[in-house]
Amino acid sequence: MHTERTTSKFGRGVIEHYREYLPVAESTAVISLSEGDTPLVFCPQLSKRVGRVVFVKNEGVNPTGSFKDRGMTLAVSKAKERGATALICASTGNTSASAAAYAARAGISCVVILPAGKIATGKLLQAFAYGAKIVAIDGNFDDALRLVRELGEAGDLAIVNSINPDRIAGQKTAAFEIVDVLGDAPDFHLLPVGNAGNITAYWAGYREYHALGRSTKLPAMIGFQAAGAAPIFYNRIVEQPETVASAIRIGNPASWKQARAAINESHGAIDVVSDEEILAAQTWLAQHEGIFVEPASAASVAGLFKCCDSKDAAYSFQKIQGQSRIVCTVTGHGLKDPDVIIGQMKELKSVPATVNDVRRAVGL
Ligand code: F0G
Repeated sequence: MHTERTTSKFGRGVIEHYREYLPVAESTAVISLSEGDTPLVFCPQLSKRVGRVVFVKNEGVNPTGSFKDRGMTLAVSKAKERGATALICASTGNTSASAAAYAARAGISCVVILPAGKIATGKLLQAFAYGAKIVAIDGNFDDALRLVRELGEAGDLAIVNSINPDRIAGQKTAAFEIVDVLGDAPDFHLLPVGNAGNITAYWAGYREYHALGRSTKLPAMIGFQAAGAAPIFYNRIVEQPETVASAIRIGNPASWKQARAAINESHGAIDVVSDEEILAAQTWLAQHEGIFVEPASAASVAGLFKCCDSKDAAYSFQKIQGQSRIVCTVTGHGLKDPDVIIGQMKELKSVPATVNDVRRAVGL
């Protein structure tokens, strides 16, 4: 097959950029959509609001609109290398969108198992558009993952959920990018937690870079679960998880132990944020920083507000003196999950096409 390559390491995807840290050989055919290299955006309004230096790692600008693409490039490249002809995953939406896209790119088929009626519109639309075989089940994400494990064990379908270590290895590149851009690790890293693969991956990335002398410190990892889907926080399986942040509607995370280890080893914390706090943070970030994220992603910013404002927070920034750098990962793009915002939008009535009517409509 004819291939075209640019000489730059940038813009060629996370495998080409961080090849030496990833389990790939020269002979591994790289399946990439130029994921990664996402902006680490300094947020002046957010920094002012919380009295700290805050950056947002905007993973919503990945090729399928979420951080999943970092792990999927590696998982699909490796699956193809091992001779897989079909992939399978369970998903709350983003993993399925990403798996479907990378399967299409690899020329292999993709089965996605989804909790019926619980997938945000944009994500479901993506899986359709990329041509996945979609199965909706009467059950939640935890049920879907159980089915995937059983089907994957039969051997003819390669599992691309984050129980596949290649997913975690690919996702750790986000931590590398942050250290490369900041020149060191941040003091705190805040992120949403669902199946707990991402917090596991970031911690692995930070530790690996630190061990190699690429950073002088390690961040405290602070994870946020939605209050109605918070098994790690409550330390028990949640049979019927519920939250507006459908991406993290998970009651029995696969990487529970690893997430606990990341939190303990980094002297971080796990906390909960309510649906109201999540939606308020989503609106705040869009309207003050111009960054529109899906509800699950806003959990990190809602969590930041909680750490700075609330005495009940599992981690209080009020006790921390001096300047510290905080990174909040926002995991997915706002356009994926428009339903809540559509509900909030006022009906648009047209006005005559005159300057005066337009002026009146906007209150000038
Ligand atoms: N944010 C978004 C937008 C997600 O889609 C997910 C997980 C998370 C955060 C949590 O990350 O699971 O690594 O702790 N989405 C998975 C999916 C479960 O199927 O798309 P995690």
